[in-house]
Amino acid sequence: MERPTVYITRLLPQPVLDAISQQYRMLTEPTDRPPTEKELLHGFAEAQAVICTLTDRIDAVVLSHATKLKIIANYAVGYNNIDLAAAAQRGIIVTNTPDVLTDATADLTWALLLALTRRVVEGDTWVRTGHWPGWTPTQMLGADVSGKTLGIIGMGRIGQAVAQRAAGFQMPVIYAGRRSVSGPPGVSWIWRTHDEVLAESDFISLHVPLTEATRHLIDRRRLSLMRPTAFLINTSRGPVIDEAALISALEAHTIAGAGLDVYEQEPVVPARLMSLPNVVLLPHLGSATLETRVCMGLICLDNIAAVLGGRPAPNRVTKI
Ligand code: GLV
Ligand code: GLV
Repeated sequence: MERPTVYITRLLPQPVLDAISQQYRMLTEPTDRPPTEKELLHGFAEAQAVICTLTDRIDAVVLSHATKLKIIANYAVGYNNIDLAAAAQRGIIVTNTPDVLTDATADLTWALLLALTRRVVEGDTWVRTGHWPGWTPTQMLGADVSGKTLGIIGMGRIGQAVAQRAAGFQMPVIYAGRRSVSGPPGVSWIWRTHDEVLAESDFISLHVPLTEATRHLIDRRRLSLMRPTAFLINTSRGPVIDEAALISALEAHTIAGAGLDVYEQEPVVPARLMSLPNVVLLPHLGSATLETRVCMGLICLDNIAAVLGGRPAPNRVTKI
């Protein structure tokens, strides 16, 4: 029997490619650059299954070529890059990779929070460039983390994993989300409105998916609710924040700083943002550990095997 054809839009970690080639025919050898439009259309036209990434825009035009396609396995937990309605119309199943990247993303959120507050990146640069004059009592003073209030916006899997880690820092957690969620035994997480979380937290971390309802959720008005000593962390999706309004708030010091892993127009990062000292800027590293990226690929494969085998996809997504 002929092996089904899978189109992979980007180079994935080798263990994933090995697993794919054991069971399927790869339409083309994946490369480490974004596909051209022509390559993308060809892949969607020829394959029964596609593994694509969050940087591939899968719109109605791309989907109109997909005559043999049964499943799009998005190599990400977020799936705002795919036109779900157009996929559903063509009977194409869309899946994502939840759970396996929850810890990696929560860990990175804390890395950003700590780096920002304790000026880790500035300090490293000072040492490397030979500018450190030696210890002084007033040098590079940051802000305490332990005991401060952590505010979480979006209390899904990742938001909860970030909240769990706050216990080690003795931080009270307040959160805004669609439903009330209870913390681990002995820990209370307090459900609040978005505005209350912004006004009452020392750190605000965003963990909502990008949808029409969450685009620019953090706008000029909501930023103005934050304390001047508060920090904003975003490891979700760039457009959840109005980036221009954030830059103005940072420049005017109406908030203390921001730790960003995601941007409105990736990979473009505004020069004004890059020139600010009170930000830490990462290149969308949330799930970027070798173990996690391998697991994400294997989840894509599980979903492909299910759908091509006529079984329900374990990680099917539908419009929120
Ligand atoms: C990464 O941003 C993801 O959605 O997996
Ligand atoms: C992702 O898995 C989330 O629900 O936050």
